[in-house]
Amino acid sequence: MTKRVLSGVQPTGRLHWGNYFGAIRQYIELQEQHEAYYFIANLHALTTIRDREQLTDYTHNVAVDLLSLGVDPSRAVLFVQSEVPEVSELYWLLGSGTPMGLMERCVAYKEKKERGIAANLGLFTYPVLQAADILAYDSHLVPVGEDQVQHIEVCRDIAKSFNHSFGEVFVLPEARILKASAKVPGTDGEKMSKSYNNTIEIFEEPKAMRKKIMRIPTDSRPMEDPKEPDEDHLYQLCSLFVSDEQREEIAAIYRRGNFGYGEIKKRLADAADAYWTPARERRAQWLQRPDDVRDVLIDGAKRARRKAAEVLDRAQAACGIAGASQSAVVRA
Ligand code: TYM
Repeated sequence: MTKRVLSGVQPTGRLHWGNYFGAIRQYIELQEQHEAYYFIANLHALTTIRDREQLTDYTHNVAVDLLSLGVDPSRAVLFVQSEVPEVSELYWLLGSGTPMGLMERCVAYKEKKERGIAANLGLFTYPVLQAADILAYDSHLVPVGEDQVQHIEVCRDIAKSFNHSFGEVFVLPEARILKASAKVPGTDGEKMSKSYNNTIEIFEEPKAMRKKIMRIPTDSRPMEDPKEPDEDHLYQLCSLFVSDEQREEIAAIYRRGNFGYGEIKKRLADAADAYWTPARERRAQWLQRPDDVRDVLIDGAKRARRKAAEVLDRAQAACGIAGASQSAVVRA
């Protein structure tokens, strides 16, 4: 059965390996058989970025990168979050019934606060906007990395509570994760994340990428000791790029011992370089065509708005907001 698939990426920096192997690779696979909506979450990014040019730049760059990686505008609807204002309206309808406790339990907010990032209201209510993103398109499947699973659970809770009060308005979505790469490690072995400063960017210059790989910290056990590959982040990173056979071969080297991490790093650098080359070439083309990128996004926003307006009307009517007829007048 064809399902509706939806997911988003924040334009808070350059895309990294975690974004690709956790989420974007799924976007590309799922657009083949399903009705897919992918967007650039610039409203979410506004909770952390306070620089107009930076946000504009990152937003354009994420669009270019998604297109270069294989998001295909003839199959998927690709758009910028803020260009579908229906989502912001839906956000209020949902937030009005969302218990404070539900937000307080959200890990992403708690973590940021603990790390001393000044909390703002947007950061706190972030999962409600994310719920609006998902519910606005009657989405069935949400391909993400592990860190977003809690947000999808919250979205389901919010949808259930709205449906309970006002009738069956929203479709309940499900998270889709790829077990093997739901939590890609960064250069330090923690989850790869822009905010941990441990990322390797997908479109990093090849030389800089190699340098970064060669500097990945490794343990200081003697070379000859056998090692358990699954516990090592360098091995986990290698696994993302190589065939099953090569993975087995590298695992055997670990278990045997008597090897230097330098040789594994070199294999990783070679494999990563070869892996990204086609996307890098496509990117060089897209970078020459900013107007075409813009056209893709405008067309995507139009298509996304059609669906979101339908769902917003339904939600407004269900909860007794007169705007249902008003918005129809404006669009007529
Ligand atoms: P964001 O921009 O942080 O990340 C984009 C996607 O990349 C995944 N990801 C990872 N997966 C595996 N390993 C990692 N180390 C790793 N780092 C990031 C994320 O899980 C995500 O799927 N809140 C979202 C954006 C968003 C959204 C939505 C997503 C806004 N509305 C609606 C889905 C549906 C975010 O900040 O993702």
